[in-house]
Amino acid sequence: MIVGEKTRLRAIERSDIPLFLGWFNDPEVRQYLSMYLPLSEAQEEQWFERQLEDDSRHVFAIETAEGVPIGNLGLHSIDWKNRSAVCGISIGEKEYWNQGYGTDAMRTLLRFAFEELNLHRVFLHVYDFNERAIRCYEKLGFRREGRLRQSQFTEGRYVDELIMGMLREEWRAEEDAR
Ligand SMILES: CC(C)(COP(=O)(O)OP(=O)(O)OC[C@H]1O[C@@H](n2cnc3c(N)ncnc32)[C@H](O)[C@@H]1OP(=O)(O)O)[C@@H](O)C(=O)NCCC(=O)NCCS
Repeated sequence: MIVGEKTRLRAIERSDIPLFLGWFNDPEVRQYLSMYLPLSEAQEEQWFERQLEDDSRHVFAIETAEGVPIGNLGLHSIDWKNRSAVCGISIGEKEYWNQGYGTDAMRTLLRFAFEELNLHRVFLHVYDFNERAIRCYEKLGFRREGRLRQSQFTEGRYVDELIMGMLREEWRAEEDAR
């Protein structure tokens, strides 16, 4: 396990699939994500199988310190030559939003990305209306790198996506300042 302060990251298990289905079929959670079709158990099982073989992604379940699974997160599109990756996170248990779990889990993932995988850059895409997520990423030290104007069509309108990124040296400075 990768241990944070309020959370820990563990391997995803087949037995997590019903939890994931509940989270990612919840419109309140999904409005912030790029997925838009109702997700079936079979699709989630296929997704799970792909994670086992794919060296360009690492996905983990997020648990509270007490062992309650509340979401998942991961590094995707890991580019081993340029040492970069895209990260993504979802706290699916909504009653755990706004209590610092997402920030702690992401901080734990960043430590893993920079100190274990020896990555140089981690970045993400976030809808510009997702103020809670943006605040979470800014607290961690992600910088706004760009805006993809009207790049996504969702719920009847085009929305902008922000690209936010963090370099290893910026992460180090954030850690040293804590
Ligand atoms: C985004 C997410 C990971 C953040 O995790 P979290 O545990 O809820 O967030 P945290 O409590 O660590 O931090 C959220 C911060 O945003 C602030 N915030 C919440 N709503 C806000 C809003 N509407 N505007 C501005 N700030 C807001 C909180 O006050 C907190 O800041 P603070 O610590 O300075 O008070 C989580 O809410 C989530 O998974 N949401 C659904 C899926 C999603 O959006 N995933 C990200 C896609 S890019």
